[in-house]
Amino acid sequence: MQDEATPLGSMKLSRAGASVAAMANKSSTKEVQRLRTVYELYRASPEKWNPGNAGNAAIATERNEVIVKSLRAGGVWPLRGYRVLDVGCGGGSLLQFFATLGAAPSDLYGIDLLPDRVAVAKESFPGINFCVGNAEEMNFPAEFFDVITLFTVFSSIFSADMRANLVREISRVVRPGGVVLIYDFRVPSLVNWNTRPVSRRAVRRLFGTAPVYAESLTLIPPLARRLGRLTDPWYRRLAVLSPLRTHNLILIRLL
Ligand SMILES: C[S@@+](CC[C@H](N)C(=O)[O-])C[C@H]1O[C@@H](n2cnc3c(N)ncnc32)[C@H](O)[C@@H]1O
Repeated sequence: MQDEATPLGSMKLSRAGASVAAMANKSSTKEVQRLRTVYELYRASPEKWNPGNAGNAAIATERNEVIVKSLRAGGVWPLRGYRVLDVGCGGGSLLQFFATLGAAPSDLYGIDLLPDRVAVAKESFPGINFCVGNAEEMNFPAEFFDVITLFTVFSSIFSADMRANLVREISRVVRPGGVVLIYDFRVPSLVNWNTRPVSRRAVRRLFGTAPVYAESLTLIPPLARRLGRLTDPWYRRLAVLSPLRTHNLILIRLL
């Protein structure tokens, strides 16, 4: 369900969509509650994700480079003219990055469960379309998007039903031949028990198709954040060591 701020908020769900929605409501109420509780806890340590930290900035720079490589590999480059949905958009910074890459803000959409995060996104990036909602059931028309992104979303969802409902709904709103871009943990986090890794195999199983592009990246974040003045000389050198990389960026095409 989406809030009234959705550009397509008045659109009616199809009959098939309505029955999926009913299933989703049953299976995921507890999971939605658990996610809200977890994110309430995260609010207590905002410093962790401070973009001013040199390690966090290096993580973002590396990731942005790999995003561009993957979009090229997926044939959705340059981004101008493509319609993009960020599922679990949080504060909206990924969509803002896409705007800096040439996407028109009016073609960018974000949805997130958490009203406070969406409020921040709307205030920070007013030209982009953000809404509050559970992505198990979205009001967008079928085949509306060219690109759908999920960054550290599947790893935060423990419920297999919710993951499956997300995949079904994403498959409905992406156009045939459109792409899904996933950035997520490839290994269990030693410091955050509220996440589960999402292997390449798991992504393949969820969507029933092999990745077009996959690359591991991101130096162990607690280590990267401690590099301080050594970040410049050391981030890249350490990040070439595969066991020190915690995430995957995976692009799949849905036919
Ligand atoms: C770890 S955060 C990542 C936020 C953002 N993608 C980023 O990379 O900064 C995961 C986000 O997914 C959202 N989320 C989880 N399940 C969702 C669902 N079923 N529908 C919409 N958003 C969901 C959470 O509310 C949270 O904001």
